Amino acid sequence: MQNIKKISALETFPVRHPVLRTEKPIESCHFEGDDLETTTHFGLFDENNLIGVISIFEAKNKLFPEERQFQIRGMAVLKEYQKKGLGATLVNHCEKYCLDNNADLIWFNARTEATGFYEKMGYQKIGASFDIKDVGEHFVMSKKIKANPFQN
Ligand SMILES: CC(C)(COP(=O)(O)OP(=O)(O)OC[C@H]1O[C@@H](n2cnc3c(N)ncnc32)[C@H](O)[C@@H]1OP(=O)(O)O)[C@@H](O)C(=O)NCCC(=O)NCCS
Repeated sequence: MQNIKKISALETFPVRHPVLRTEKPIESCHFEGDDLETTTHFGLFDENNLIGVISIFEAKNKLFPEERQFQIRGMAVLKEYQKKGLGATLVNHCEKYCLDNNADLIWFNARTEATGFYEKMGYQKIGASFDIKDVGEHFVMSKKIKANPFQN
């Protein structure tokens, strides 16, 4: 059975490393702000095996006017588990967390090859692509998050 739970920054490394920092030193899996109280990491488990991770940072991007912004980072599903709907499950979980925390907007720097995935999840590219050293081409993407006023 699959389930999602909060994990520590360090616990994300066994997925971040092979998927996002392939053949790079393990230290490269540490992101600035990983250990802040305002940062949350979620792990998706198949039984007791960690197979996907997503991290959410309270971080404002000046491109957007919204007051309460969250940034997704470190989104990764182990290769053999990709394209089974797990990435979407993780993003949905993260969005619910952001809604519960009064978010106005979610944004992130998306790898160009992942933009199609995020577009399916309702995110839009903003501006031109740009390069992140040692990682590759990215686009800023975002989505406004609003609580449904008709929900209890
Ligand atoms: C990008 C990633 C997180 C997506 O997770 P996933 O579990 O493979 O995605 P899902 O199976 O939930 O896909 C949801 C939908 O998006 C589509 N999709 C998945 N990856 C896609 C991609 N790279 N490009 C276009 N569409 C994609 C799926 O086909 C599916 O579409 P459907 O609903 O019509 O069937 C995962 O492939 C991954 O870890 N990739 C490598 C690391 C990476 O690029 N991370 C993002 C860094 S910004």
